Amino acid sequence: MESLYKKRVLIIGATGGIGRETAKLVKSSNADVFITGRNSEKLNAVATDLGLPANRVFQLDITDSSAVESVAAKIHAEVETLDIVINSAGIGIIKPLEQLTYEDFDLTVSTNLKGTFNILKSFLPPMKTAKEGLIINMPGVLGKTPMAGAGAYSASKYGVNGLVKSVREELKRTNIRITNIYMGGVDSPFWDNIDIKVRKEKFIQEKEAARAVWFLCQQPKSGVVSEMVIQPFNHQAI
Ligand SMILES: NC(=O)c1ccc[n+]([C@@H]2O[C@H](COP(=O)([O-])OP(=O)(O)OC[C@H]3O[C@@H](n4cnc5c(N)ncnc54)[C@H](OP(=O)(O)O)[C@@H]3O)[C@@H](O)[C@H]2O)c1
Repeated sequence: MESLYKKRVLIIGATGGIGRETAKLVKSSNADVFITGRNSEKLNAVATDLGLPANRVFQLDITDSSAVESVAAKIHAEVETLDIVINSAGIGIIKPLEQLTYEDFDLTVSTNLKGTFNILKSFLPPMKTAKEGLIINMPGVLGKTPMAGAGAYSASKYGVNGLVKSVREELKRTNIRITNIYMGGVDSPFWDNIDIKVRKEKFIQEKEAARAVWFLCQQPKSGVVSEMVIQPFNHQAI
């Protein structure tokens, strides 16, 4: 395993279920942790819990490319490049087509897909200069397989898949590693506003999902874990 001691690790979406638990584990490994969240109240709570100073904590809406650039500039002024960027930000609007609004579709794509694009645009260049780094994205199982009601969500996550895999082709002469993690249902606030019947008691726990991400962060640099799949027993879709 690769030690995370003093590794510079950014967790985007550290106010969410998976992001928060991942940030805790990465911090417990004595990494130099940077976090972002959209909701400043939740962000401050996570920062206090982790004992992070202000220059490691950034309020950020990833749909705003200038805001992503600005946060990246502040972080890169502190550290030349990041060793690991974990993109755990995203939203889930799960409704059948007739209920999906144009706004739902735009918001889903601009958060999940354009947000990922904004992150790559801002955080990849210093990694390219350093010729190394690790970026972890979470397309999820619905980034690989369809589900009724997931038209907008799956479109955005299939898009993440295509985007990230194409960019990976551009990085083959570097030691930059890109990992996609395909999780099935994780019992997190992600599901709070989703009106479909799910069996949360069968879901993956936030802490278990975070442990998978933490494990990926510690993989030796000699190889690339390009994909990881982790699903609830009762819903193994891929
Ligand atoms: N939970 C699942 O079943 C599951 C399964 C597969 C994949 N995933 C993916 O895993 C990732 C994390 O999910 P989760 O379960 O931890 O969800 P969550 O608890 O709802 O957390 C979502 C995170 O995304 C952030 N976020 C949402 N919109 C944002 C925006 N415009 N700009 C910046 N941050 C934004 C939220 O920030 P605030 O809270 O500060 O608003 C929060 O930190 C997502 O990409 C999700 O699609 C989840």
